[in-house]
Amino acid sequence: MDGNGRWAKEQGLRRTAGHEEGAKTVRKVTEHCAKIGIKYLTLYAFSTENWSRPKLEVEFLMKLLEKYFISELPVYLQNNIRFKAIGDLSKFSKKLQEIIKKTEKETEKCTGLTQILALNYGSRNEITRALKKLTLNNLEINEHNIQNCLDTATIPDVDLLIRTSGEVRVSNYLLWQIAYAEMFFTKTYWPEFTTHELDDILSDYKKRERRFGGI
Ligand code: IPE
Ligand code: MG
Repeated sequence: MDGNGRWAKEQGLRRTAGHEEGAKTVRKVTEHCAKIGIKYLTLYAFSTENWSRPKLEVEFLMKLLEKYFISELPVYLQNNIRFKAIGDLSKFSKKLQEIIKKTEKETEKCTGLTQILALNYGSRNEITRALKKLTLNNLEINEHNIQNCLDTATIPDVDLLIRTSGEVRVSNYLLWQIAYAEMFFTKTYWPEFTTHELDDILSDYKKRERRFGGI
């Protein structure tokens, strides 16, 4: 989800207004994915590198996350959406960590879409933590064991990766899990991303032939 800040600036607004608008897009896209039967939607909400932003913006994002979980819980439940967080949550305030855990717990029985938010997430951090778990438990380092120690252990590999805002890079996101993902890059800023554009991308995705290294 990229382009909140640029979108806001172009509207003559503060960057924070872009994040607020971006949160609305999260809800729209999530509800749409639940409706059309997608099983997993993972959204990059806050990266391990985002702490380097100005203090006020980081504080705003933390407050926005707290508000988001409180307002979204009924939306998750109404739409049978299970929520899961990935990333190193220990860097967040106790309050935010508790809201995240509570949201996971209260939606754990939902069987429709699983919405995963990547929070204080970075792939290098995730892989490093996974390898630490393996050595701590004296387990052999192999692909199967690494996979099972990632935050995404219970989540299938990525089929389709979309990045908004015109940047064509991956920025430390799900590096292990996107090994065979199809990629889409759109110039649309995240606050302006619509379910119609998502549907267009999905129909394009369906036309792609995925060979997973075979022929
Ligand atoms: C993405 O939008 C939202 C977060 C990373 C929280 P940006 O804040 O990166 O927006 P731009 O890239 O500055 O436009
Ligand atoms: Mg950005």
